[in-house]
Amino acid sequence: MVSRIAVLTSGGDAPGMNAAIRAVTRTALEEGWSVFGVKEGYYGLVNDTFIELNARSVGGIIQLGGTMLGSARCLEFKTEEGRKRAIHNLARHSIDALIVIGGNGSQTGAYALHQMGFAVNGVASTIDNDLLGSDITIGVDTALNISLEAIDRLKTTASSHRRAFLVEVMGRDCGYLALMSGIAGGAEAIVVPEAETTPEEVAETISAAYTRGKSHAIVVVAEGAKHGIAALTEYLTKHKEELGFDVRATTLGHVQRGGAPLAYDRVLGSRLGAGAVRAVAERKFGVLTGMIAGKIAYTPLGDIAGKTKGLDPSMIALAGTLAR
Ligand code: F6P
Repeated sequence: MVSRIAVLTSGGDAPGMNAAIRAVTRTALEEGWSVFGVKEGYYGLVNDTFIELNARSVGGIIQLGGTMLGSARCLEFKTEEGRKRAIHNLARHSIDALIVIGGNGSQTGAYALHQMGFAVNGVASTIDNDLLGSDITIGVDTALNISLEAIDRLKTTASSHRRAFLVEVMGRDCGYLALMSGIAGGAEAIVVPEAETTPEEVAETISAAYTRGKSHAIVVVAEGAKHGIAALTEYLTKHKEELGFDVRATTLGHVQRGGAPLAYDRVLGSRLGAGAVRAVAERKFGVLTGMIAGKIAYTPLGDIAGKTKGLDPSMIALAGTLAR
């Protein structure tokens, strides 16, 4: 029987993680269980930084960005010795089940604990949206809107000066944020790791936009693209006379991960956090709690650990069609 659960956030923080922590805590309290937060992800699991949570300790956090539990990337947990210490600490606090809120690497860690026989469930949370088992993950919508605001702003200054702007967005090896913010921001070109685009092709696209009478060109570049923002900027600057446009580059970086979660991520975090606890109550373990076709879905961690989902090719095609 479950009576004590623990929750941690791991990997890169994502806006909406606090909503998920709050939902895990309050849903578990309603079950009559005790809830413990583990500070700083797997680092805290290995180094025993458990704190008890109650309804009040997760009050006033739903509107806050980041994670009130802290997060870390922990090399020690990647060793068998580290994972054994983690399980030892969970046992020391008599924890019956653990909920891991995080992205790909974090869910791979959760799967490792599951394989060692510990009851663990994941909650899909990463701004990259590269996790299998969830159409959309906590933090994506907010990060996307931050990128979009930057693109909209850059477009006005680009138009005033007849410039081409390259904008690098995050996403690790996944081009989702770049593709979606490029479509929503009306970019002239989008460069993602999933579809190789050469500097020559980008130059051709920009120069064609100039010839069609555009006063600006926006190129959204995913950080994981083969030809990254530095190489593209260098090439385009060298050829700026032929392009028509002068060239500037902006890297958004961690700005995309900070700040208050938008409504979508608060609701998603709330639904997925509660969903992960419901799975524990039904004694369903070793699953990732995600959202598929608008409904809570549970996917075995073994099916998603260490894998990433690709981009929808029809969205890549749409981006090309609309950039006229
Ligand atoms: O996974 C989320 C993410 O923001 C990626 O988009 C990015 O590549 C990475 O984390 C950055 O990691 P860090 O915060 O450790 O620099």
